[in-house]
Amino acid sequence: MTITKVFLNEDEIPRRWYNIAADLPSPIQPPLGPDGNPLTPEALSKIFPMNIIEQEASQERWVDIPEGILELLYRWRPAPLRRAVNLEKALGTPAKIYYKDESLSPPGSHKPNTAVAQAWYNKQFGTKTITTETGAGQWGSALSFACSLVGLECKVFMVRISFDQKPFRKIMMQTWGGKCIASPSNETEAGRRFLAKDPNTPGSLGMAISEAVEAAVTDPSGTTKYSLGSVLNHVMLHQTIIGLEAKAQLDKLGIKKPDVVIGCAGGGSNFAGLAFPFAYDKINGDDIEIIPVEPTSCPTMTRGIYAYDFGDTAGMTPLLAMHTLGHSFVPPPIHAGGLRYHGMAPLVCQGIVEGLMAPRAIGQIECYEAAVQWARTEGLIVAPESSHAVAAAIQEANKAKEEGKEKVILFNLSGHGAMDLSAYDRYLSGELQDHALPQEEIDRAESELKDLPKPEVKKTGKW
Ligand SMILES: Cc1ncc(COP(=O)(O)O)c(C=O)c1O
Repeated sequence: MTITKVFLNEDEIPRRWYNIAADLPSPIQPPLGPDGNPLTPEALSKIFPMNIIEQEASQERWVDIPEGILELLYRWRPAPLRRAVNLEKALGTPAKIYYKDESLSPPGSHKPNTAVAQAWYNKQFGTKTITTETGAGQWGSALSFACSLVGLECKVFMVRISFDQKPFRKIMMQTWGGKCIASPSNETEAGRRFLAKDPNTPGSLGMAISEAVEAAVTDPSGTTKYSLGSVLNHVMLHQTIIGLEAKAQLDKLGIKKPDVVIGCAGGGSNFAGLAFPFAYDKINGDDIEIIPVEPTSCPTMTRGIYAYDFGDTAGMTPLLAMHTLGHSFVPPPIHAGGLRYHGMAPLVCQGIVEGLMAPRAIGQIECYEAAVQWARTEGLIVAPESSHAVAAAIQEANKAKEEGKEKVILFNLSGHGAMDLSAYDRYLSGELQDHALPQEEIDRAESELKDLPKPEVKKTGKW
């Protein structure tokens, strides 16, 4: 009999996170302050609590997960590893397609893996309110959920286009006690500036980050901190529980290693969460193809520039060395709201520069076709973001068929799409189109970045 689900008991949950910073053959470039010098922990302490700043800079390979965080994670973890046998049959592929099912958390995605950790560390530190931004609403609902578990206030700036397209996410946030504000808003200086420039702007994650950072640093009591749901090192760290669980589950099946590992990438966290523990094996000699997937309309990794850039539109965050489309980039209003970000996690970018990871861009029509095929074979209606990983898994399964190879493909199903049905509606009624980013946008990014410091491109040439 074919095994299609592998579970772990609570006592089998990984008790340490994996920090790839300890193993990347060339280290990532440090974040820089406005003066162009490496950022000090003190400078960051206006934005984040010190316990998280320490984690951000950690070079330890293994970081213990505090018992208090494990207890929060037990609400839905360990998450199952599943095998998509029905899709395999439909494709007629000899490949075995496994996936981590991150749709089972209460908010419906991988985001709470770091949300509960960040809320817990903030609570320990004495924070009273956390501010953040959200694209599709997954992160805002995850952080609202996490804050409700530990007893913190949560204020979420939600990108205007998603606020209008996805009202149910706002209701989820409110149900968990979070406050959700459409961004740009009149609540911050930055928001008022963006609105003055374009009152009808659809907003962007970059703008919403500017607002959330400002709301944190201008609180005179000092008890408001900001939290980011992706991009930063500590977020990647918290998400590695996904890949560490997957390793234990593949081990139970007697599978020594996957041949291909796939995740969609907006800021990089669900991809990194699954992929980094396998990148560790690749660094140590295993042959594994590792593929972060992005939309052709927001091609940060495949067409962006490797540069120092701000994480937000107003230039309030530190400068990060990453692939970027420029901080003023306003992506086309595609439905995968969580993949509409101009930058990418520096740890993922260094993996790309090093050649450990090979990014791929896929158009939204192919992604929705894949999502519908998935729904009609495996059942779940996946998040528009996750459909990019499904589409890449199908591409790889078809390639295995052409090559006649029995490959093991592993991907991250980062969330369900039950709150994204309006996007499916538009696809099913033939209203969606593919967007390829025009070259002028890349040229605009080049000129926007030309006066910022340049990171060194460091690679060993091993991969
Ligand atoms: C379901 C889902 N998958 C993926 C992403 C992309 O984020 P990241 O690259 O940090 O995993 C998001 C972001 O909102 C999301 O909601």
